Amino acid sequence: MLNICFVVAASLNNVIGKNNQLIWKIPIDLKYFKNRTYGLPIVMGRKTFDSINQKPLPGRLNIVLSKQKFHSQEYQNLYFLNHVDEVFKLCNSFDYKTLHVVGGSQIYNAFLPCCNTIFLTKVLENFEGDTFFKVPDNFSLKKMSFYPVQKGSPFPIEFQIWQKNQ
Ligand SMILES: NC(=O)c1ccc[n+]([C@@H]2O[C@H](COP(=O)([O-])OP(=O)(O)OC[C@H]3O[C@@H](n4cnc5c(N)ncnc54)[C@H](OP(=O)(O)O)[C@@H]3O)[C@@H](O)[C@H]2O)c1
Repeated sequence: MLNICFVVAASLNNVIGKNNQLIWKIPIDLKYFKNRTYGLPIVMGRKTFDSINQKPLPGRLNIVLSKQKFHSQEYQNLYFLNHVDEVFKLCNSFDYKTLHVVGGSQIYNAFLPCCNTIFLTKVLENFEGDTFFKVPDNFSLKKMSFYPVQKGSPFPIEFQIWQKNQ
């Protein structure tokens, strides 16, 4: 069975984006994201795909969910799909065991019933924004590591791992 994990960075007040962009640039978190997802499939919403200039992230199978019909011949690692079920089928056809859901908020909602692990980078400041993610109540914090302000981390952050309660 496919293991569904979320990777998300949210502020203290649960903001994840504003005007279809990320709010912060945290190099240490970008590295964490790359290490976690490299070589594995990721799925994102069409708006998030727009926010990264419609270019798939290298070294990973990129799946973009949209209700619209898109086709791309330009990139071999890019698939546009219309339904969550099609995402499962595609990952299973490649025999992947883990899928990382990388946002935004609509896509986290769509996959929430199947998610068992959340890799949350908590940015320990409040931000203004228009897109949010909050860890659901049926998840428990299993691990966290704190990084103070330093090179690579302009804000204090915490890498948290949340697991769905059995
Ligand atoms: N901090 C983080 O970790 C993080 C991560 C990712 C994104 N973000 C931020 O989040 C914001 C974008 O999030 P968002 O919630 O507005 O948009 P989104 O989830 O990225 O994309 C929404 C789009 O996905 C498609 N979609 C949604 N549910 C679907 C379903 N069940 N089946 C098929 N297609 C579906 C629709 O595309 P169509 O309209 O084409 O049909 C919808 O408009 C941006 O600010 C971005 O920077 C933050």
